[in-house]
Amino acid sequence: MTDLIERGDAERVLTDSRFAVPEADAAATRPMGRFRASSSRFTNGPAHDRRRRRLETLLHTIDTSALAADASSRARWSAASGVDAAEIARHVPVACLAGALGIAAPDDAPRLVADVAASYASGAESDRADAAIDRLLAAAAPATGDGDGESGGAGSDEDAVLLVQLLVQAYAATAALVEGAIRSTGAVAASITTAELLADTLRDDPPVRLTRRVAPDGEMLTLRLDGPDRESGAGRPLRTLAFGAGARACPAPDLALAMAAAIIEELRA
Ligand code: HEM
Repeated sequence: MTDLIERGDAERVLTDSRFAVPEADAAATRPMGRFRASSSRFTNGPAHDRRRRRLETLLHTIDTSALAADASSRARWSAASGVDAAEIARHVPVACLAGALGIAAPDDAPRLVADVAASYASGAESDRADAAIDRLLAAAAPATGDGDGESGGAGSDEDAVLLVQLLVQAYAATAALVEGAIRSTGAVAASITTAELLADTLRDDPPVRLTRRVAPDGEMLTLRLDGPDRESGAGRPLRTLAFGAGARACPAPDLALAMAAAIIEELRA
């Protein structure tokens, strides 16, 4: 296992297609294992490329302004009801996305996604995660219609997986961005704009701190997204790797930023 600490080194690996993601077990039989193996995140090659294209199509159906307006009103209502910032950061983005993607009972989604999140990242088996993923997939099924042939034969089952994957990917990262930005408000000038606060947080305190790749020789690499950047300096600011880089970079930075900004504006009000 090798750790790449420098942002430049991490970026070079992320943008080099010879480096693969560690794959989920394609023969998994438990619900969470099957979900991971059917997602884009733990798959390489043509399966990743096809799922990724479909994810982008699903994301394009979302109206960013309407999503941000929903995030504002949910955050305002929650804050007025005494819900704390950490709970708002965890609940609101997932509920907004679930609603925008046509998933049934969007307010139930954040709690179920919370049950899934740790197993999604690690692959650890868990009865609780299995029960939650079954419920999420059932809630996503009505949103998938009959499929349009683009999802490669699996039709609406594959779309349900990808819709739920969007919620799971959004959950911890967007919450960490909101929490990191709110934490830093105590240490910066009150005049800093929310956009500046978010940009600083993404650069200096990125929500996703590391990811992994397998080198062509089979070695496992840990890539830090929050490390130093020796190549930065005069005329070359510290690079931001918060959303990754290359063909597997986050497909939804605009949506993440729109929701995070809307929530933070309400929490700062
Ligand atoms: C501040 C919030 C977010 C951060 C910092 C973040 C960060 C990341 C990073 C670093 C990756 C790449 C991981 C790698 O290359 O190993 C990634 C992938 C991904 N993210 Fe995000 N993300 C955020 C929010 C979201 C949201 C809101 C969505 C969905 C609406 C989303 C959907 C995805 C998906 C589907 C992937 C996998 C892409 C693929 O398999 O090609 N993310 N994200």
